[in-house]
Amino acid sequence: MKKILLLGSGELGKEFVISAKRLGCYVIACDSYAGAPAMQVADEFCVFSMLDEIPLRAAITKYQPDLIVPEIEAIRTEVLLEVEKEGFVVIPSARAANLTMNRDRIRDVAVGLGVRTARFAYAETAGELMAQSAAIGFPVVIKPVMSSSGKGQSVAQTAADIQKSWDYACAGMRGDRKKVIVEEFIRFEFEITLLTIRQRNGKTLFCEPIGHVQERGDYQYSWQPQAMQSDYLKAAQQMAETVTSDLGGAGIFGVEFFVTKEEVIFSELSPRPHDTGMVTLISQNLSEFDLHARAILGLPIPQIDTTEGASAVVLASKDGVQPRYTGIEQALSEPGVDVRIFGKPTTRPYRRMAVALAKGSNALARARAAAAKITVVSEG
Ligand SMILES: Nc1ncnc2c1ncn2[C@@H]1O[C@H](COP(=O)(O)OP(=O)(O)OP(=O)(O)O)[C@@H](O)[C@H]1O
Ligand SMILES: [Mg+2]
Repeated sequence: MKKILLLGSGELGKEFVISAKRLGCYVIACDSYAGAPAMQVADEFCVFSMLDEIPLRAAITKYQPDLIVPEIEAIRTEVLLEVEKEGFVVIPSARAANLTMNRDRIRDVAVGLGVRTARFAYAETAGELMAQSAAIGFPVVIKPVMSSSGKGQSVAQTAADIQKSWDYACAGMRGDRKKVIVEEFIRFEFEITLLTIRQRNGKTLFCEPIGHVQERGDYQYSWQPQAMQSDYLKAAQQMAETVTSDLGGAGIFGVEFFVTKEEVIFSELSPRPHDTGMVTLISQNLSEFDLHARAILGLPIPQIDTTEGASAVVLASKDGVQPRYTGIEQALSEPGVDVRIFGKPTTRPYRRMAVALAKGSNALARARAAAAKITVVSEG
């Protein structure tokens, strides 16, 4: 039986724990608050900030896990680099966790490998941002190098927006180093997540592309498969293979691309299950969580079957505690529809609390209709 230390215990972690436990693993779920989704289904839990070196090290020393599995970006990844040298196994690799923690590092790796990205530059002051934006050409997208879920991200339409974008990025960034990436605004036809699985003993596998729509930096709905030209799909797979093989290790990666009329552009990558990939809970025979578990345990993945499916998020609308959900009965009365309630103990505006899933024809419309029937009610 493998012992897994899960760093981050959100909804993705919860589904991963279920998959890992079905394969006989023992899981210790960690997060900064008690009662986090993955803790509810794990064998043990541990509460501390993953950004704090001392408790992170202490948890690794105490539990002596066979596998350390990051579920979030914001981890003191220097500790992972150290413990990997001491013989602990980090999924997919400490280097992957470290490089993807900051946008600039992984972007530099992609560029070094010759992967096509949007034109971009870095800036450390508002003045630099102005000069770089003018050089790239408006509109531009500005993101703190250390942030996730769209925090601190904005689009500057003209030079007049730059100061506002800079201030917004500074307010939304993690860490103390003020640095942003400024990118050419890509007018894509659609964007995809290409789930890419690196196996211990076997070739790299790809799931069917997942299309998704983002608002306020978080995905709202996703569907699979997203139809795309076969040469574009091949190009995306090649870029995904290039970058993930450079990062190394075993596990699933969510590789994000923009697809324009002319080409496929690499955007970013997460070395772990991806939120848009929750659709695979209904659209694939093995979900992204099952695939991650098999890949990290070195178990075979002989076949991935896909049927048309979609996911749509259910968001909270205000700050509160003891959330309840209305409309679940109505949502589940539709054939081919399912719901996952994450079990988060508190709500805040736009917090993702559940996801509606649908499979079969018209899956996207049906998933969105099911999500729309569900309301989160909380106290306080
Ligand atoms: N250069 C760009 N041109 C057009 N749209 C963009 C660009 N960069 C980002 N976006 C839009 O913003 C979304 C979020 O950007 P990105 O994935 O880089 O940030 P993120 O904060 O890491 O998001 P997450 O953590 O949720 O994946 C993208 O999915 C895309 O919809
Ligand atoms: Mg993203």
